[in-house]
Amino acid sequence: LPRLYHENVIDHYNNPRNVGSFDKNDPNVGTGLVGAPACGDVMKLQIKIDENTGKIKDARFKTFGCGSAIASSSVATEWVKGKSTKEVLTIKNTEIAKHLALPPVKLHCSMLAEDAIKAAVKDVEAKRAKLNGSSDAAPVEKSADA
Ligand code: FES
Repeated sequence: LPRLYHENVIDHYNNPRNVGSFDKNDPNVGTGLVGAPACGDVMKLQIKIDENTGKIKDARFKTFGCGSAIASSSVATEWVKGKSTKEVLTIKNTEIAKHLALPPVKLHCSMLAEDAIKAAVKDVEAKRAKLNGSSDAAPVEKSADA
């Protein structure tokens, strides 16, 4: 990679964290699959909820895309761990971009990570609501305070 990239990008690109997949049929797994139409890059990010605490206990990603997208998804999987599904919705692509010092033309790569987190949360909340068998099922993060 050219020198214009920040060491955090190089680090996450060379040593991506949490690469892989979970079983998408696991009711405690949320899968977010998003694509960037402009470049054709695709990111899959999965979160696994701890049934007892309602918090995200693990995360995985697979990204078919540029180095910045790979680094952004790697950072995202690190940042979501230990947080509730509500908390991770506040993770902004601008924070990821700042952490990696992405240049403006690479901002959309970090946007993929934010979108993937949101999609994964939506997926797991829908699954868990269905599992609880009612429309008034509490959002997953509520079970943490119960
Ligand atoms: Fe499209 Fe990076 S160039 S995700």
